[in-house]
Amino acid sequence: MQGQIDLARRLVRDAELVAALSGAGLSAESGIPTFREALDGLWERHDPRRLASPQGFENDPAMVVEWYAERRRSLAGAIPNQAHDALARHERVVNLTQNVDGLLDRAGASAVVHLHGDLATDVCHAGCGFAERIDLADPPSLRACPRCGGAIRPGVVWFGEALPAEAWRRAEVVSTACDVMLVVGTSGTVYPVAGLVDLARDAGAQVIVVNTEPTPAGRGGAVELIGKATELVPPILDQTLG
Ligand code: OAD
Repeated sequence: MQGQIDLARRLVRDAELVAALSGAGLSAESGIPTFREALDGLWERHDPRRLASPQGFENDPAMVVEWYAERRRSLAGAIPNQAHDALARHERVVNLTQNVDGLLDRAGASAVVHLHGDLATDVCHAGCGFAERIDLADPPSLRACPRCGGAIRPGVVWFGEALPAEAWRRAEVVSTACDVMLVVGTSGTVYPVAGLVDLARDAGAQVIVVNTEPTPAGRGGAVELIGKATELVPPILDQTLG
């Protein structure tokens, strides 16, 4: 494994631009359940289609808003871990994240591309464009949009919804331009985001994967490191480390 870590460090050292594509595994060591882990996976206890979909919200908006309020309150106490910190500190890293927990932003990362939205925002479900930051520790309950009277909902992408256009455009630009794509803590099974790895590889980037299990991103000549994000991401990124 050390040889692979050293190879990954060299690739990062020689890269002008590193695209870091992250998923729920990046925040697992901050105590936030991932989506697919059998025991404590977020969806194991709930039916995502009922909770995280436009249909689910329209069927029972109060129940969906309350479920997110529970997630928001639990997020309020979460702390960025060493992997978030390393990704936030490295000036040549652009973060493309599927996570909605805001921990990369809280770690000080600038210009994070939130591909699946951000739980710290509320938006108008009717699409009038109203949006506002909310207090994760004291999340609002179901309310009407002050601008158009529609329903207010969390500013995250739901099943069956398109990704934010500007975020997707930036992710494609960065994935095509990067010298290295560092894939951290994602099962790589949800498209279109999973396709960014192929886009980067086809554009000539070297792919480095950090994950606790093998994933499709590890194919095609990637440097695949099986292990925890907090143990592997800092030594790969922090070139000042011995
Ligand atoms: P998943 O739960 O699908 O995958 C998390 C991955 O992280 C798994 O492959 C784990 O092996 C790995 N992992 C867990 N702990 C780790 C650790 N400490 N260090 C490194 N890796 C670890 O979560 P995502 O891939 O993020 O979409 O899921 C992608 C999307 O599916 C989510 O954004 C969500 C979901 O449907 C929407 O909500 C639209």
